[in-house]
Amino acid sequence: MQTITIADAKNHIDEEVKIGVWLTDKRSSGKIAFLQLRDGTAFFQGVVVKNVVSPETFELAKKLRQEASFYVTGTIHQDDRSHFGYEIEISDIELIGDSEDFPITPKEHGIEFLLDHRHLWLRSRRPFAIMKIRNEIIDATYRFFRQEGFIKMDPPILTGTAPEGTTELFETDYFDNPAYLSQSGQLYMEAGALAYGKVFSFGPTFRAEKSKTRRHLTEFWMIEPEMAFMHQEESLQIQERYVAYLVQAVLDNCRYELQLLDRDPAILERYTKLPYPRISYDEAIKMCQAGGFDIQWGDDFGSPEETYISDQFEQPVFVLNYPKTIKPFYMKEAQDRDDVYICADLLAPEGYGEIIGGSERAIDYEQMKAKMQSQGMNLEDYDWYLDLRKYGSVPHAGFGMGLERAITWICHLDHLREAIPFPRMINRLRP
Ligand code: 4AD
Ligand code: MG
Repeated sequence: MQTITIADAKNHIDEEVKIGVWLTDKRSSGKIAFLQLRDGTAFFQGVVVKNVVSPETFELAKKLRQEASFYVTGTIHQDDRSHFGYEIEISDIELIGDSEDFPITPKEHGIEFLLDHRHLWLRSRRPFAIMKIRNEIIDATYRFFRQEGFIKMDPPILTGTAPEGTTELFETDYFDNPAYLSQSGQLYMEAGALAYGKVFSFGPTFRAEKSKTRRHLTEFWMIEPEMAFMHQEESLQIQERYVAYLVQAVLDNCRYELQLLDRDPAILERYTKLPYPRISYDEAIKMCQAGGFDIQWGDDFGSPEETYISDQFEQPVFVLNYPKTIKPFYMKEAQDRDDVYICADLLAPEGYGEIIGGSERAIDYEQMKAKMQSQGMNLEDYDWYLDLRKYGSVPHAGFGMGLERAITWICHLDHLREAIPFPRMINRLRP
């Protein structure tokens, strides 16, 4: 007899198989027990009929506790009433590990309780579906960039630089000198692009965000592509192709998970159509003003404004060319005006706001040096970065996508904390 996984049940209809499972819930009467089972690949139902199995097996089935682990032996049948489509008619049960009272019961729990028990909550249907979709997005990221001719390059996590400003740095002691946990690999990825053409990174990113919002984690995962011999327009095209590719991958490979999350695939289909609309920062400001927001040219958008702007579109929308005063030093200045950079944020629809930030990069050595000096940056920390403008500087552009922002949007979650296995936020370092 073959040992299989639940996900593989569809290939074994009417066959006798063995599966290692945990119990998520059960119902029983005098004659029949319905066991809700999971094995990490899917959830399905096991049926134990009293007069078909041995008396010991039926007694065991009735006594099993939530999250007990065991092997079931039985026959796979089609079951059109369930999400999953199949069930197992159990002939034998072999207990592996009994369970104490499991803290997460099928009833509703508060979010703090669930987060305190994240190590166990991960086993539930909803986290299961989100983590599978997260995995698909990661996998699709590697596929997409490979197919576009990129190589993956890993920037350091311990750094001496602060590409996105000094206010949100996690500082640590590095043999009596300060070091910072990476808040973006971008500066290193620029070195990579000038060495290998098209590179992307995928790694943990740290920001000491002191605000509690549904869009901010202190530790998140970012994908940062960087491309040599490339201007902003071509970078925008890669960004929209990438995002559409991710959505398509989830549609193709995660139907069951979308169903568990009650996420309508028809809505996601909309996001696979290209191109995505583009508006300027200037237009976005006017849009917010017309919508009743108290905002002036030069202000950055907060979450409410981003939500409002993205709500005006059926697809993700690029907001182009922000004022220089609210974006980092490394961006390239626009040619036709001196108050904005050549940059863009991609705002996700359904009110999710920014998922990507990117720009064309400034490439002139003297200008870059002067700007760094005027911003009070310590040139010694950045001399290596300036070198990139000294030896064969070329137009280049790149962007960063927050993985959890993309997941939160694609899965239609309320908060980023559900998009990462063990969220780190201002008040949470455990489990
Ligand atoms: O817009 P950001 O700050 O851009 C950069 O870091 C650039 N260096 C990227 C680049 O051009 N290589 O961050 C990029 C993305 C945001 O659009 C957002 O999706 C995500 O990172 N992000 C966060 N995600 C979760 N929690 C936070 N605290 C985040 N801060 C940024
Ligand atoms: Mg940004």
